[in-house]
Amino acid sequence: MTARLTLALLLTFAAPASAGETPHRPDRAWVNYALHCQGCHLPDAMGMEGKVPRMNGFVGNFLHSEEGRHFIIQVPGVSKSPLPDQELSELMNWMLKEYSADQIPSDFVPFTAKEVGSLRQDPVDDPLKRRAEILGDLSKRVSALNCYSDAWVRVDTCE
Ligand code: HEC
Repeated sequence: MTARLTLALLLTFAAPASAGETPHRPDRAWVNYALHCQGCHLPDAMGMEGKVPRMNGFVGNFLHSEEGRHFIIQVPGVSKSPLPDQELSELMNWMLKEYSADQIPSDFVPFTAKEVGSLRQDPVDDPLKRRAEILGDLSKRVSALNCYSDAWVRVDTCE
């Protein structure tokens, strides 16, 4: 067990009983990432080459379109997570800032539990196909995505 996961578990069990719902709980978000996401995405969100996309320095790009904003909630790892809407929205808001602050648009409005709750009821069937469509569209507007390619997508707007 990694030191970080051990700490995460300690925090989970040592945390005092919740003093009411607060809109911003970065501690809880971090623990939830460790418990529910990092097994595949890894602690530094670098993913696994050819298997799990890298979110570090990347995932915030999706926030530059409405479809992309929806996609990162509708993707199966998020929409089908056992976490309740409130915790999932906190996790996403924390994760985007933690791993991809430079890619987030300046007018980003954080996810609310309500938005997450409604988007996750409509999960994407073919996430990698949808992802390629969204990144292709975004590449026309987000300069960092011009000429972008990874294991699943090659943006054809390359100059
Ligand atoms: C069982 C492994 C697994 C777990 C657990 C998992 N994911 Fe993923 N995630 C993937 C894979 C694989 C993809 C690529 C799309 C697909 O095939 O679903 C992905 C895609 C994503 C994407 C879209 C990124 C992109 O560039 O397309 C986001 C955002 C994401 N995951 C967030 C999360 C979060 C947040 C959690 C925890 C609540 C999580 N995932 C849990 C495997 C996982």
